Amino acid sequence: MPRTRYCIANWKMNFNLSDAEEFLAAWKNKDLNNPHIKTIFCPSFTELFAISELLGTSSSELGAQNVFYESRGAFTGEISCAMLKETGCQWVIVGHSERRTRLGDTDEMIHKKLHQIILEDLCPILCIGENIDERNSGQTATVLERQISIACKHINKEKLNTMLIAYEPVWAIGTGTTATSSMVGEAHYDIRNILRTNGINADGVSILYGGSVSVDNAESLSNISDVDGFLIGGASLDIEKFYSIYNKL
Ligand code: 13P
Repeated sequence: MPRTRYCIANWKMNFNLSDAEEFLAAWKNKDLNNPHIKTIFCPSFTELFAISELLGTSSSELGAQNVFYESRGAFTGEISCAMLKETGCQWVIVGHSERRTRLGDTDEMIHKKLHQIILEDLCPILCIGENIDERNSGQTATVLERQISIACKHINKEKLNTMLIAYEPVWAIGTGTTATSSMVGEAHYDIRNILRTNGINADGVSILYGGSVSVDNAESLSNISDVDGFLIGGASLDIEKFYSIYNKL
């Protein structure tokens, strides 16, 4: 069975509610005629309830950009899986490099978050990727191996079937520099092997690419074998660009 392909908007800390409403009002008029591509919008926490309602019965789904790894308690400023589920959210981004490098998320914390997401029946979008020094010193595969195996350790492997992986080389995020086709192909091939070695149903997991995906490079990236879709930052803020990328998947 072919793997589902994904076109995911990570709006980061950009859209306020009126921006999101305007985007989604126009999105409703777009013809999403490819049943093999799922679209997911990941707005800020404060917009989840409203956007859940706006998406209503549309085929697009809702994701959060982060979650905490405890189910409740004295954790000022954090948000739980149950709170996300209350909004109608099904997906959660975990391990994004901006959280790893700027907001203190460690491999262990990402593991705990992934564990909690699975435990509470949400679907994770696990982000992994090397920084430029790691790539230049030939450490890419080692980094991907470490990030996946720590994140997934001791988690029921069958439950990980709902997981998406987003390969996002840190140096390609928001820079306008995209990884070359051979870099992406090699990384996605390695990721599938690492999943297999960790006892995960590697052929069933969709692996997305993220990092300066644009209207111009989407088609060639999409043609790389083992690329099952995109996690898009900047270009997802412009409806025409996002829709054009959807149509190239
Ligand atoms: P850009 O598409 O802006 O490079 O961001 C990618 C990303 O971080 C998606 O999560």
